[in-house]
Amino acid sequence: MALVNPKSFLLKARKNQKGICAFNTVNLETMEAIISAAEQTNTSIIVQVSEGAIKYAGLDNIVSIAKNFSKKYKIDFALNLDHGSSFEICKQCIDAGFTMVMLDLSKKSFEENVTETAKLVKYAHKKNVFVEAELGKLFGKEDLVENIESVFTDPVKAKEFIEKTNVDALAISVGTSHGAYKLKFVDGLKQDIIKQIAKDNKDTILVLHGASHIDLDTVEKINKLGGKLKSTSGISLEDEILAIQNGITKINIDSDLRLAYTYGVRKFLKENGEVFDIRNITKAGTTEIKEECIKKINYFSKLEK
Ligand code: G3H
Ligand code: 13P
Ligand code: ZN
Repeated sequence: MALVNPKSFLLKARKNQKGICAFNTVNLETMEAIISAAEQTNTSIIVQVSEGAIKYAGLDNIVSIAKNFSKKYKIDFALNLDHGSSFEICKQCIDAGFTMVMLDLSKKSFEENVTETAKLVKYAHKKNVFVEAELGKLFGKEDLVENIESVFTDPVKAKEFIEKTNVDALAISVGTSHGAYKLKFVDGLKQDIIKQIAKDNKDTILVLHGASHIDLDTVEKINKLGGKLKSTSGISLEDEILAIQNGITKINIDSDLRLAYTYGVRKFLKENGEVFDIRNITKAGTTEIKEECIKKINYFSKLEK
């Protein structure tokens, strides 16, 4: 139906202990795969782009594509800037038509993170735009944000941060990391931290970054088709479902879609050596992305209480 501020569908999901998927995209084709999965499952989602994706596709192109799809499809969805690195880039996205922005100053000082986030929240709320921030550090590669150590989010600091900034959503560090080669914690995600932050902040949406499973079967299939992925690891479905039941609502997924696309394209090219039409090759990848999105939406948004 429309490109919307995700607040109402996120709060409804939080109340019902369900997860809302936030999928990363980089172009027209992958964005359509994601939105058509939302349409097919009749479930609102968040489409998000990193600063790297904006450099790749162009800010105005991304917004125009999202707006056009919001006319073509009936389902409500939000357009989010993922891991924005400054107030200025978030402002640019808001002014261009995004309905959500994330300001990730998690590697800066607590005070700077509070000041800049509070400034952004004031600006964004006047324009009916939803804001996510991050506290605590995720190990691994983030878009333009590199952290070398994992620091779990402190629930006391999270409460203070939310009170001082009035931010709508908070990404917390509870044991996940970005990409296909995730750090493994023997005892899984820090469910006690999720529970405490959720209990202290009932109206705030909690976000799990680095939530890809990195399905070993898919990785093996890619490698059999000529891929050279190293031994990978991801987050278990059980851990994520528990995290949602304990208070996580927004689930960020990028790597699983990249793997799905890679598998689709490799398989298609192997089986169709005579084809060189770009549309057919791309379609083989986006069909897999759509299937992967439907699977995730069914896991997380249709959870029984
Ligand atoms: O969390 C970051 C996303 O996976 C985006 O990755 O910077 O390669 O677009 P990217
Ligand atoms: P993955 O690398 O686990 O897909 O995480 C994506 C993410 O957190 C985007 O912000
Ligand atoms: Zn992330």
